[in-house]
Amino acid sequence: MPVPLFDTASPVAPLRAEVDAAVARVLDRGVYILGPEVEAFEREFAAYLGVEHVVGVANGTDAITIALQALGVGPGDEVVVPAFTFYASAEAIPPTGATPVFCDVDPETMCVTAETVRAALTPRTRAVVAVDLFGNPAPIPEIAALGVPVVEDAAQAAGARLGTRMAGALGTLATFSFFPSKNLGCFGDGGAIATDDPALADAARVLRFHGSRDKASYERIGWNSRLDELQAAILRVLLPHLDGWAAGRRAAAAHYADAGLGELVALPAATAGAEPAWHLFVVRHARAAQLAAALAEAGIGVRSYYDVPLHRQAALAPWVPADLALPITDELARTHLAIPMSPLLDRAAADEVAAAVRAAPVPR
Ligand SMILES: Cc1ncc(COP(=O)(O)O)c(C=O)c1O
Repeated sequence: MPVPLFDTASPVAPLRAEVDAAVARVLDRGVYILGPEVEAFEREFAAYLGVEHVVGVANGTDAITIALQALGVGPGDEVVVPAFTFYASAEAIPPTGATPVFCDVDPETMCVTAETVRAALTPRTRAVVAVDLFGNPAPIPEIAALGVPVVEDAAQAAGARLGTRMAGALGTLATFSFFPSKNLGCFGDGGAIATDDPALADAARVLRFHGSRDKASYERIGWNSRLDELQAAILRVLLPHLDGWAAGRRAAAAHYADAGLGELVALPAATAGAEPAWHLFVVRHARAAQLAAALAEAGIGVRSYYDVPLHRQAALAPWVPADLALPITDELARTHLAIPMSPLLDRAAADEVAAAVRAAPVPR
């Protein structure tokens, strides 16, 4: 039985009639940009996260740039960011004029920690982009205790928790992507910024709309970066199901453990106190590339996402000092492998994957 890497269609299929009605509501109203659906989604998502303000934007990359600019980050500043993450976490920094400074991650959780961030701090550090990688919240309170504002990149972590707080309610600001494959994915591009701080929310609102409040006077150079009404209406249908889907992802992780996968590969470790919402289920193996080839042959969806980490990407070379050493990142780049994950992945599928790993002709 083949097992796909992820399945974005099945969880939303039962909601088709509600999605159709939401789309029809928007078409009937004829308001497509910054209207009542975006306002309602911003309120509903803020309530879900337990934060005061949510600002919808066009995607999760813009969300980071705008969050940093709302904080006042600009030319001459440094922003610490892990090198083991999706490219956009760092790509979003240079448009502010600031310099990305790459840090290492923890080998078990694969997230940044207070120690790895501390090693990258300088007197010019103005913010940290802490990524809740693969749906596992980074230890944001410990990082925030270093005294630098934290932008929590929660693009992969909608539905996760750390202690009593939701992922997305942990930093000075947090950012989300609603790209279709995400835990809360719309049917196109979308993103959001979450914060408790009214001044930061206000700055983000101005920045997403050309630096203007009224489209007549312009206070700063901003962006054209809005969540649209159709996507917001669809997200309002999906949001009430996010907790159930996140629970399904945790159940899938438990199925893998019960299937004995932990004896064959290193399973991802949750951050202390966290309930991850496994966006991707990323295991580690000394011969990950060989294992990937064997699993693909057996019909199991696999992918290594970050095999060229950010400090080794050509476009980011101008910001990488010649002597930068990030040994854990380099090790993870070589050894990580995403295996199938979805809210609906059941014990039979987990057994299938574990059996394929067991049968793979790859020494551990
Ligand atoms: C960790 C992380 N940050 C940022 C982004 C950027 O989001 P988007 O694709 O919506 O711009 C993504 C996803 O694509 C991501 O995985």
